[in-house]
Amino acid sequence: MNAKVLDLWPELEWIQDETLREQIAKTWELALERSVLTPQDLKTIPFTLLAPTKVSFMAHKRAVVHIARDSGIKCNEFFKDDLPVNMDVLIAGAILADVGKLLEYEMVDGKSVQGSYGKYLRHPFSGVSLAEECSVPAEVCHIIATHAGEGDMVKRTTEAYIVHHADFMTFEPFKARLII
Ligand SMILES: [Fe+2]
Repeated sequence: MNAKVLDLWPELEWIQDETLREQIAKTWELALERSVLTPQDLKTIPFTLLAPTKVSFMAHKRAVVHIARDSGIKCNEFFKDDLPVNMDVLIAGAILADVGKLLEYEMVDGKSVQGSYGKYLRHPFSGVSLAEECSVPAEVCHIIATHAGEGDMVKRTTEAYIVHHADFMTFEPFKARLII
């Protein structure tokens, strides 16, 4: 596995299926190859421009994966066969949800800014495209495709619901924070 990718994503080790783990790591490797952003940029740029925050891109992405995993464990513990969660699919999808964002930046005067590509093809679309190039299975691509607002038009799997909510519960409060 690519050392840079593993350094960004120690959570890859949580994926039990070796083939799936490699496919997910490969997708991130491909995105980094095509991005103007470096792994160091991902650890320092703020995760959103829509709210004043110093929380980095990687801190937010990793938090979503941790919250999704913990939620999946609790669903399996409490609901058992009534709402089974495939943990490998859940973790893989959470790690890949925002991989397409790496293609949404351009370099202007030595600074990374949001470019026009992402306006035409938001990251749920570009993320699926990258993942399919790396043979990521459909049930994981589904999570990438539906994790954001676009997915509100789609019938989500249980794993996709979890990732969607893990993502939004760690984003919306930054935007609408009530400071007393
Ligand atoms: Fe996203």
